Amino acid sequence: MKVFVDATKCSGYGTCAEIAPDLFQLDDWGYASVIGDGVPADPDAARRAAAQCPESAITIED
Ligand code: F3S
Repeated sequence: MKVFVDATKCSGYGTCAEIAPDLFQLDDWGYASVIGDGVPADPDAARRAAAQCPESAITIED
């Protein structure tokens, strides 16, 4: 599994980083990016984060 954030869709809601702080980091403006190689230690949290993103900016490759 690998996780991606589409920077063109992210609007900085920050929900992803609340749900999976080990996987998503927010920049100074609140926009998200994936930490490290994007392979989640907690796949369930990654899926929850993707499902909860209001902009559907998170994609998961299985
Ligand atoms: Fe951006 Fe969605 Fe996270 S809008 S900050 S990727 S919850």
